[in-house]
Amino acid sequence: MIEAAAALAAAHFAAPLAYYLYARRWLRRPWGVEPREGHTPTITIIIPTYNEAPLIEAKLDDIARQDYPPDKLQIIVVDSASTDGTPEKAERWARQRQAPLEVLREPQRNGKAHALNLALKHARGDIVVITDADSHWPDPQTLRKAARWLADPSVGAVTCLKRPAGGGGVEAAYRDYYNVLRLAESKKWATPIFHGELAAFRKELLEKIGGFPTHLGADDSHTAVLIAAFGYRAIAPEDLHCVELVPRQYWRWRIRRAQHLIQNFAASLRLKTPSRFRPVLYAEAYLHLVNPWLLPAALATALAAGPPGWALAALGLALLAHKPYRTWIAMQMYLMIAALRNLWTKE
Ligand code: GDD
Ligand code: MN
Repeated sequence: MIEAAAALAAAHFAAPLAYYLYARRWLRRPWGVEPREGHTPTITIIIPTYNEAPLIEAKLDDIARQDYPPDKLQIIVVDSASTDGTPEKAERWARQRQAPLEVLREPQRNGKAHALNLALKHARGDIVVITDADSHWPDPQTLRKAARWLADPSVGAVTCLKRPAGGGGVEAAYRDYYNVLRLAESKKWATPIFHGELAAFRKELLEKIGGFPTHLGADDSHTAVLIAAFGYRAIAPEDLHCVELVPRQYWRWRIRRAQHLIQNFAASLRLKTPSRFRPVLYAEAYLHLVNPWLLPAALATALAAGPPGWALAALGLALLAHKPYRTWIAMQMYLMIAALRNLWTKE
């Protein structure tokens, strides 16, 4: 019994470690794509908003700081019946700045992806960039850099690497592990995890996949997976960074995110994908859908094994004093709670 408990625990920790070490070798590969300096396609930036009045002006200021030819840029705010005056604030911002900004209004709230699909109908750019209101691009060259990568016809989608703003140590430690994986997967072929802070897609591919998926939460990640399934690269290059404001209700937000990722992987496993993408997709699906559950299985087996098993369980608990371990365990808890919560709400 104690052996079984130890084996379950070892398997739980070995899988992500092995994947991490294995994926790190992909970092040394060449990209195999040719980014082109000075490539400036027409871009439509879409900011979906629901009750973002406190943030919308700063977000628009942030975009206005981008160094990109203005005649090649279209900016759309698509709002879904905010009750805090978000669209009016956006319009006022545009008037004061005399900036061209299109504000679209949905009469009722049907979710982010639904709103994105409305905006997509108005998009004139060859590239569509989605960015959440609660995010920020520290580098004024961000759009140019994203465009550079999209100069290569094999690249269908580009996202950023993420840095938390004022999120504290736990969030930051997790991000180190996380960003290495995103980058390595991108070099291998594609990463199945995209970020709402900056998700750039070729518009023709968005049209080909039938717009943003509205049946699940992870619209950005799942869109990237669908594009990769079509044989295009979906990448997070090393020179694109964005910042996300970490909300106050930290762990409710974490669980919602985990729910979205689980929905993404469950749907992605049903797709036919290029063989180069499969190792990444299957590894990530395993880590998100299955691996967390080895922990409670190990704990239950240990507790049933009598005193030696209790000692093992006590060791597992004592290690919580160690921060990276605690961070990891917290993430596993979020994934398990999220899987259960997905049974009754997909939100
Ligand atoms: N128009 C519209 N309609 N916008 C919406 C709606 C809606 O029903 N719901 C949310 N939004 C907007 C928000 O105002 C914000 O600008 C953006 O969509 C993201 O919403 P958040 O509430 O900040 O989502 P999140 O931080 O939990 O999740 C984000 O990141 C995930 C992973 O990176 C989203 O972008 C997710 O789609 C993404 O999977
Ligand atoms: Mn957010």
